[in-house]
Amino acid sequence: MKIAIACDHAGLDAKLRLVEQLRAAGHEILDRGTHSTDSVDYPDYAAEVSQDVAGGAAERGVLVCGTGIGMSIAANKVHGVRAAKCNDPFEAEMSRRHNDANVLCVGARVLDAAVLDEIVGLFLATAFEGGRHGRRVDKIDALDSSSTH
Ligand code: RB5
Repeated sequence: MKIAIACDHAGLDAKLRLVEQLRAAGHEILDRGTHSTDSVDYPDYAAEVSQDVAGGAAERGVLVCGTGIGMSIAANKVHGVRAAKCNDPFEAEMSRRHNDANVLCVGARVLDAAVLDEIVGLFLATAFEGGRHGRRVDKIDALDSSSTH
């Protein structure tokens, strides 16, 4: 799968680990930074990955910051993005099965590394169920298209 990934300074270690693991698992990774621990602004990185996903350059996006909160708020401002901030494996699975989330946001300062990796794995491996959930996702997308304020 083609995956766009980015982080801010708080998520660097987790992102480096994920990039290595996901490449080893055969995924194609677009690494949009950041590449050092210098302090940066997470919306810049959320925008890069969100545009990759919304524009079709990547099938899924993964964003890592301290809490996952800022990344998720920013990513959901981009038309076509359904970003889910997930704190545990169950949420990651449901974000795919019921919400067809296309961007995952995780917090490197709140999650144990093994749990964070499991969350990412489930997000990438789980399919959308469709059916009644498709109708609901269509309604989310209609809001995305029609909202002006
Ligand atoms: C950076 O200090 C921190 O605010 C950021 O990583 C993230 O947690 C924002 O939501």
